[in-house]
Amino acid sequence: MVLGAKTAGARDIGAAPIEVISTGAALGAELRGLDLRAIDVSQFKAIERAWHDHQVVLVRGQSLSDQDLIAFSRRFGDLDWAPVQETGRRFVEGLPEIYIVSNVIVNGQAIGSLGAGEAVWHTDMSYLDVPPMASMLYAIEVPPSGGNTSFCSMYAVYEALPDGLKDRIAGLKIKHDGTYNSGGYLRQGVTATDDPRTSPGALHPLVCTHPDTGRPMLYLGRRRNAYLAGLDLRQSEALLDELWDFVARPEFAWEHVWRVGDLVLWDNRCTMHRRDPFDASARRIMHRTQIKGSAAPV
Ligand code: OGA
Ligand code: MN
Repeated sequence: MVLGAKTAGARDIGAAPIEVISTGAALGAELRGLDLRAIDVSQFKAIERAWHDHQVVLVRGQSLSDQDLIAFSRRFGDLDWAPVQETGRRFVEGLPEIYIVSNVIVNGQAIGSLGAGEAVWHTDMSYLDVPPMASMLYAIEVPPSGGNTSFCSMYAVYEALPDGLKDRIAGLKIKHDGTYNSGGYLRQGVTATDDPRTSPGALHPLVCTHPDTGRPMLYLGRRRNAYLAGLDLRQSEALLDELWDFVARPEFAWEHVWRVGDLVLWDNRCTMHRRDPFDASARRIMHRTQIKGSAAPV
């Protein structure tokens, strides 16, 4: 009887409605009424639907261990192993799925990546042929100010392009560079280069269709060492600059101010993100997972 009562209780919690509150910006919604350690199938479906509708979802007030973060992430699919740290080390012994974004130094070694500087607009790991479809960032320590993360909708950016520009980019492929990360640091095991024609990376279509929503989006990756295949370098740079002018516009973006316990899940195909710098003497610790993509972008 006790067991039965417990089961009924768990079902009651699971049946609680989820509130979806749009940020009012081009993308992003906050989901309320969730404990991500204990969600049922219907709650998961609601999260997934909100995520497709809003591209980025925020859930506040969570208390997740690395195992909880991994378990919630796995509901969306298999996880990627995190890229190794700038120092060549893995982040968390025994948990290769966890990537740490942090400026904190312990015994002379950074515990995570990206330092305290700006992280420029990018998508995660799009230098791979099959980039992660989503990333999740969970806030463990946040600085008193700075370090905000902004997201932009690459659906909205594509829609805003003038027709002439859409015609000029149709059918082009873009190199997503694998030399530097978004903090400007050289990736482990890679030779420094600033020639985008020869730098390591992956070629993807510049305009892709989202596999779940069917919507067209601009797929830019990162500005540094990007290259439009087949064009001469000057033409490629000029066209990329023209496209990147749209990315910087505030009407396509939503800026998140972090609190401890925030979890943000973004669609890594139809959004890009960037991070503001913050005071290097303050502490910021975020743990991230990435969900594997199912196929190369098309
Ligand atoms: C990331 C990332 C920015 C931030 O984890 O992929 O870009 O706000 N993080 O820490
Ligand atoms: Mn990132």
